[in-house]
Amino acid sequence: MQRKPAQQSKHMSNKDEYERAAKKSQPKRTFPQRLTSKQSMSVQTTRPIFAALLMLCGKTTVQAQYQTMRIPQALYGKEFKLTLKDSFRQLRTGNQTITSGINGDFWGPTLFINKGDTVRMDVLNKLNDSTTLHWHGFHLPAVMDGGPHQVIPPNTRWKPYWKVTNQASTYWYHPHLHEMTQEHMTKGLGGLIIVRDSMEATLALPRTYGTDDIPLVLTSRRYDAANQFVYKNSAYGDYLLSNGTPNATFTLPRQMVRLRILNADIERGYNLGFSDNRTFYVIGNDGGLLEAPVSLTRLPVYVGERYEILVDLSGLAEGNTLDLKAYNSGRSNSFPGGEPGTSGVFGSLLNNTDFSVLHIIVGARTSNPILNLPTTLVKQTYLKAGDATNTRTLNVTNGQPANSPFRFDNKLFDIKFINHQVIRNTVEKWSVTNNNVFGHCFHIHDVQFKIVSRSSGPIAAYETGWKDAFFISRNETVAFVARFSDEADPQHPFMYHCHFGNHEDEGMMAQFVVAEPTQGTAEQHTPAKFQAYPNPANDKIYLTSEDPSSQIYYVNVVNAAGKTVMMLPQPQAGIEVSNLAPGVYFLHITNQRDKHQSVITFLKR
Ligand code: C2O
Ligand code: CU
Repeated sequence: MQRKPAQQSKHMSNKDEYERAAKKSQPKRTFPQRLTSKQSMSVQTTRPIFAALLMLCGKTTVQAQYQTMRIPQALYGKEFKLTLKDSFRQLRTGNQTITSGINGDFWGPTLFINKGDTVRMDVLNKLNDSTTLHWHGFHLPAVMDGGPHQVIPPNTRWKPYWKVTNQASTYWYHPHLHEMTQEHMTKGLGGLIIVRDSMEATLALPRTYGTDDIPLVLTSRRYDAANQFVYKNSAYGDYLLSNGTPNATFTLPRQMVRLRILNADIERGYNLGFSDNRTFYVIGNDGGLLEAPVSLTRLPVYVGERYEILVDLSGLAEGNTLDLKAYNSGRSNSFPGGEPGTSGVFGSLLNNTDFSVLHIIVGARTSNPILNLPTTLVKQTYLKAGDATNTRTLNVTNGQPANSPFRFDNKLFDIKFINHQVIRNTVEKWSVTNNNVFGHCFHIHDVQFKIVSRSSGPIAAYETGWKDAFFISRNETVAFVARFSDEADPQHPFMYHCHFGNHEDEGMMAQFVVAEPTQGTAEQHTPAKFQAYPNPANDKIYLTSEDPSSQIYYVNVVNAAGKTVMMLPQPQAGIEVSNLAPGVYFLHITNQRDKHQSVITFLKR
């Protein structure tokens, strides 16, 4: 289909972008900028200086197409409204691409939250498809987790909340509907969550979002002849998007700069380094800061992983340029994206090549620049192998013969089958073995773990922090220890899976519950009866029960046509009903203790 060309984020300085992006909790999204058709007729070049330079050189290289990297809008606070919807974006010359976005047309806002706060999410699904939204890396009750069991139908509102106990780090949220994850993520659904805490706050680190503290979300996409995303029979994209921007460039101040890198791709790994081979410093892993910076020149970042790095640009002059690149050529044959071939399911134009992920222009120093590398970061109390009181072993199986989907322990994901039962508050050691044809990215929900061994050799210093995802190459065993302290029951269990979207969708996923040892003893209770008041209601309803010990596990608000309009895990206090249309509603209430379900009606005025 032909759509009218629009929107280039052009001629905007990074400063402007930051100021727009960082305005607190603006109800209106700041990105992308939609331009009038007159504006959109101007050149695609985002850097007039570049265009001028190139004209002087008389060259027409790919550099002429650099676009200023988008910085996702920043939202701050304890309550967040996230609306998922289909949209489109001009990503290439020609047709616009059909995308999905959260509060925007591709990807979503960066949510800044504080450790210790209770955050409340108001997720509204305006897609034409069911989906879920998972809070990747967070400790929380499984019923709030947004995994494959918390399906949000179209036009339904889901309101999870949790107390933030995670350390300061970079986390993310993304859809997790079984068999649909690759499609929903390819279309662009997702976003970053930045947790701040008092430990991180005491350190002299760059933390001006969009200026010296830069989110960098890496993905690649393949396009069909009509410029639409390909998400079937395709493991790798052919074109890189950095924060959703093709051919991204960004001006970074000549001082210490922090990059928060997320690999949000379907399968590709990124072996990152700078084009001048400069040393840079890893300061944080998925779930927290390291005890001290780790210096290196190459950093492999696999799907689902986050790394915070510092790079010192103070020695460069304004106007200098360098590239952050993926040095992906010549990797081993279990490196995702190292396969030869430029087309087909496992081929790609980016495979086995070195390519720029961000063209950096060195800009002026800011007023209060961070110029020194901290020598120490935070004191961590890591779990050790010896802390584990229970051990589990997992094996990656199948994959061969070709077209036999990868899975764990010979079992494809079955949403009704609980693969493991963990006793609450135990420290366990999980040992994952991959005697198989390819590498994978292992991720487990709810916990931050510590990798305690890799059969392939020593654990790299850059991955010695708190993690929730790791790459496991072929013929390798990786063991980690974690404490399981959040509840998960068979209705809403936690997942572990390969984070390659295609592998996960094909069934390389399994699930576990976390429960008290005493739970499950057959104590009989008469099912609790609930009442709603006031009834009829305008704004809020309250639920009461004659049995004071009864707690509510879940409330689904269903309208007269039988459609679920709100999903409320463990609702507290009053239930907000002001945005419901007038009429009769059914409250499907699940009791916490016995999961017994009862239905009561109320009238919305
Ligand atoms: Cu990033 Cu199970 O998810
Ligand atoms: Cu996999």
